[in-house]
Amino acid sequence: MTFDTLIVNGTVVTATDTYIADVAITGGKITAIGQSLPRENTTRILEAKNKYVMPGGIDVHTHLDMPFGGTTSADDFETGTRAAAFGGTTTLIDFAIQYKGQPLRAAFDAWMQKAASKATTDYAFHCIITDLPNARLDEMAELVHEGVPSFKLFMAYPGVFMLDDATIFKAMRTASKIGGMICMHAENGGAIDVIVQQALAEGKTAPKYHALTRPTTAEAEATSRAIALAEMAGSPVYIVHLSCNDALEKVREARDRGLPVYAETCPQYLYLSLDDMEKPGFESAKYVFTPPLREKWHQEKLWTGLKQDHLQVVSTDHCPFCFKEQKEMGKDDFTKIPNGGPGIEHRMSLIYSGGVGKGRFSVNRFVELVSTTPAKIFGLFPRKGTVAVGSDADLVIFDPNREHIISAKTHHMRVDYSMFEGIKVKGMPDVVLSRGQVVVEGDKFHGKPGQGNFLKRAVYSGV
Ligand code: URP
Ligand code: ZN
Ligand code: ZN
Repeated sequence: MTFDTLIVNGTVVTATDTYIADVAITGGKITAIGQSLPRENTTRILEAKNKYVMPGGIDVHTHLDMPFGGTTSADDFETGTRAAAFGGTTTLIDFAIQYKGQPLRAAFDAWMQKAASKATTDYAFHCIITDLPNARLDEMAELVHEGVPSFKLFMAYPGVFMLDDATIFKAMRTASKIGGMICMHAENGGAIDVIVQQALAEGKTAPKYHALTRPTTAEAEATSRAIALAEMAGSPVYIVHLSCNDALEKVREARDRGLPVYAETCPQYLYLSLDDMEKPGFESAKYVFTPPLREKWHQEKLWTGLKQDHLQVVSTDHCPFCFKEQKEMGKDDFTKIPNGGPGIEHRMSLIYSGGVGKGRFSVNRFVELVSTTPAKIFGLFPRKGTVAVGSDADLVIFDPNREHIISAKTHHMRVDYSMFEGIKVKGMPDVVLSRGQVVVEGDKFHGKPGQGNFLKRAVYSGV
């Protein structure tokens, strides 16, 4: 037996198992897992004693190079995949946007164009649908055929992305027939807009009013409506960036009834709160994203939701805008602050530290939340999301004891601030492999733009 690479003496962690073994890689795939695998003729040996060997992270919610709010998100597919890899994430699912009047295919083509020559690790797409007359319903199947079996719909952002219930219902009915998954931005955009207009009329223009005009009830109502529409349509639904206990309760109730309802939350909702919106001056614009930050008590409810499988995934909703010049567009009016925050790099460390490090859940549950379940829900398993013979060798040698203080001074995202500035994490990737190639080794990056492959995903078939 000869191998390209052998990772030796590590503790292999999957969603179900933890054991000491060597992991052998040939041709970008895992080809053997066992004890004392032969080292002769192996080109590269990576020592992993006292480290975890886990599947590369999968971040199913990113917005790279995305035009939004009158500007474009600051990371493109090169800087975004690179920063993700430094954090142990080796697969992204980004969002290709269909603009009004366009065929869905145009979204896919445009985002392939953005990613193909730049991505340093593998990527896939969901399609954001903004315009779905009956004549376009068949185009959803065309995208499924291209390997894009998930569609993000918005119940918020009226006049930009928001769809009415009839259109959402039609999209869900179509998804149910073709193995599609509906990803839902669940906030009641109509009600929020009324509250926002009133705030502006009262001269409330500071960033904190972004959060104060988007109540948790608006998220819970939309979550409940999305679940009801999906139930009537017979389709699965995946609630994106769930931020509060009120919405979590709706997901939990639906799952208790056995419905194929899933939800993700993001590190910002687990670590930050409305208190951060009280920072002086314009500082709190750094935390303007939707749904907004909530009262602090929601955080522990979300951590418990992750532990108890009421929430299945942690993604980032990485949508970075620089504080200077981009966030500053809304200096006099919070509605003009581009919505989004940077997070692609620190998801794994933040969730490991706060989850495993704080004793909230096991390292296996951690792997499940950041890699295995995302792969299963979004048609990438078992190619991605596990450490198994035949799977892609997207692997992280993770040091559970390495400490790091998150800072914009050291991060790799192309953005001039960190949402998590000063937070100390324990548990960091040491070495990261993408299809068998070492892309990150400590603070060195060996990946190349264009090395990442587009991943054609399979249809939803249950988890
Ligand atoms: O504020 C956010 N979340 N920006 C990205 C777009 C979205 O709604 O996911
Ligand atoms: Zn959204
Ligand atoms: Zn998003």
